[in-house]
Amino acid sequence: MTYKIAVLPGDGIGKEIVDQAVRVLTALKLDIALEEAPVGGAAYDQLGHPLPPSTLELAKNSNAILFGAVGDWKYDSLPREHRPEQAILGLRKNMGLFANLRPAILYPQLANASSLKPEVVSGLDILIVRELTGDIYFGTPRGVRTAEDGAFKGEQEGFDTMRYAETEVRRIARIAFEAARKRNGKLCSVDKANVLETSQFWRDIMIDVSKQYPDVALTHMYVDNAAMQLVRAPKEFDVIVTGNLFGDILSDEAAMLTGSIGMLPSASLNASNQGLYEPSHGSAPDIAGKNIANPLATILSAAMLLRYSLNESAAADKIEEAVRQVLAQGLRTADIYEEGTEKVSTSQMGDAVLKALS
Ligand code: NAI
Ligand code: MG
Repeated sequence: MTYKIAVLPGDGIGKEIVDQAVRVLTALKLDIALEEAPVGGAAYDQLGHPLPPSTLELAKNSNAILFGAVGDWKYDSLPREHRPEQAILGLRKNMGLFANLRPAILYPQLANASSLKPEVVSGLDILIVRELTGDIYFGTPRGVRTAEDGAFKGEQEGFDTMRYAETEVRRIARIAFEAARKRNGKLCSVDKANVLETSQFWRDIMIDVSKQYPDVALTHMYVDNAAMQLVRAPKEFDVIVTGNLFGDILSDEAAMLTGSIGMLPSASLNASNQGLYEPSHGSAPDIAGKNIANPLATILSAAMLLRYSLNESAAADKIEEAVRQVLAQGLRTADIYEEGTEKVSTSQMGDAVLKALS
């Protein structure tokens, strides 16, 4: 079967970095068909919508999406539905992409990039599994109303609803347990069960699902403690699973532990293993068009694409090994450059990964 991959470069550095990932995917000589479509501000300029129906259709009919980034300051004054960022939300929603996987890996050669002491972070390799479509971000009712009780009765109040359905927790739990099983058999579920009903419910279901994974050691941690432990002793973690709100914050915190946003891939999966794969960073308009952006986060996203949506783990391993090799050779784009290493452009970094692959 030929795998279909939708290639959506988007805005800013999107095209430059996706081009390099496409070269890498092509070089592997797998049975894949790549098809490109506009998304984000580029699509708005061309077709009047950040997620044109033709792009959404292509994405839905593909096994996976390789995504660059969307957004640019020049679209800031557009009404919200025309903003580039709506493209990601639209893809998540229309394709049911509920599981966000964000590895935070600190390659030994880049240990100085972290603001934490090398002994605390060197060799860090953790995976945050964040639920992406539920929680207080989407719960209803929400809005502004007149308070009916309490100390501020009669005043206007803003409110949101935190909620998780059983199915939502079970399916993210399964993704996390499967991931933990493939790694080191350690899973930490992060919640706020001492205060929140939603969290106690979440915790009870995690414990229930854990019965099907006797080989995975499940632990629980309150989110405030998890935020502390992530900077105190991040290597104590292996896989972390958490809800949408806590995951939003913790995954950004974990990204900063590595100090190199240009190195971090991400995946968003649905129940049929379709996925959207993108670097964790944005469209970096400040450096767009200069051939200096780091393409490795996108190349590593392509590796995740092969591993999670195409079941091509061996090919994914090859890409990750090639990335380790180019770092070991001392090649660095500007964002990770330090004295004694060799500064290369976006396309030269792509060249080096291709060479390491062959
Ligand atoms: P950003 O991640 O685009 O950039 C932050 C800083 O990191 C900038 O100095 C940038 O030059 C640098 N940087 C980012 N990626 C890099 C790479 N691969 N190589 C070297 N340096 C890199 O975040 P920012 O500036 O807050 O947002 C810019 C635009 O991106 C906004 O329109 C924002 O909405 C959008 N954005 C899009 C995302 C997506 O498409 N998923 C995610 C985050 C932001
Ligand atoms: Mg965030």
